[in-house]
Amino acid sequence: MQTILTGIRSNSVLTLGNYLGAMLPMVRLANKHSKDYNINIFVPDLHSIISDVDGDLRENIIRTIKYYLAAGLEINENVHIYRQSYVPAHSELCWILNCVATMGETSRMIQYKEKSKGQESCNVGIFDYPILMAADILLYDATYVPIGEDQFQHIELTRNLAMRFNNRFGEIFTVPAKTADQIKFMGVNEGIRIRDLLNPEKKMSKSTKAENSKIMLDDEPAKAAKKIMSATTDSLAKVKFDMFNQPGISNLLQIKSLISGTPLQDVISEWVGETRYGTLKQAVADGVAQTLTEFQAKMAEISDEQVYELLEKGEKYANEVANAKLLEVQKAFHLR
Ligand code: TYM
Repeated sequence: MQTILTGIRSNSVLTLGNYLGAMLPMVRLANKHSKDYNINIFVPDLHSIISDVDGDLRENIIRTIKYYLAAGLEINENVHIYRQSYVPAHSELCWILNCVATMGETSRMIQYKEKSKGQESCNVGIFDYPILMAADILLYDATYVPIGEDQFQHIELTRNLAMRFNNRFGEIFTVPAKTADQIKFMGVNEGIRIRDLLNPEKKMSKSTKAENSKIMLDDEPAKAAKKIMSATTDSLAKVKFDMFNQPGISNLLQIKSLISGTPLQDVISEWVGETRYGTLKQAVADGVAQTLTEFQAKMAEISDEQVYELLEKGEKYANEVANAKLLEVQKAFHLR
């Protein structure tokens, strides 16, 4: 059985960008495929500590898993939920892959360049981040890794490491699908990137300071609606999906499509040519407020015990699979 795998860090309450760009598509995919694929959903807690964590990491992790359940993730015996640091093979394989990866290819990673920019002493974890991510994926022979557009470069790096390793030692790793095939599998036209509401050229990010630039999943629905109403648009006064020239309007159309589960093309057809941006904003604001209201009500119904029970099962499974793969790798290097 092939594996679909993904993770979301839990450094703070998540943004609507994480939710619409990564979590919801993953949940829809998982529900569609969990009869014939392994579905691995894990919290990359070791990736969290490359930067500051808001609040208590352990509590954040439990909340993140509740998010998946509140987003509608259906649990069956093929769905595995675990924490990265509870499966030590991730760190071990990361070290081994460090000895396969080159400084050149790792230094080219855009996320590393962005995160280290202007920092006098950037920690090594920021640099090594994609190698640990490769370990997360390769340990489970994952074919599909649903993620947002900003992470595609890391998948390409993972593919290169897997191919290099296999060339040297034989077919030990499954090479994940190419980016184009990942996108096709996710059922979206292109990678999803929800934009910053005030600066729509940038992605919506939890680390952006300005409150009105991002919607957090625990925002009061009315407050979130106001943020949409004050989103930056443009002066062209004609709705068109054009991320390059009209990123603010295009972002609103994208959000509208994702919250309603309507294909983007249909949303575009419905709104194209509209000259009053206020009407579109109002429709998106109402949709976002309703989504948050329903989501927050579901969150309140999920108990910590429910989450711990899932983790116990998931971590037993993950350790078995990951340790078996790690042993193959250790044997290849004559460590065993
Ligand atoms: P993280 O927590 O930084 O991001 C989690 C996911 O959210 C997506 N994302 C967005 N999507 C659309 N619009 C946005 N504004 C937006 N902001 C964030 C990211 O693309 C990502 O999919 N490195 C991963 C975590 C990870 C992982 C892995 C994922 C670690 N190991 C192995 C898959 C497989 C990350 O970016 O986390």
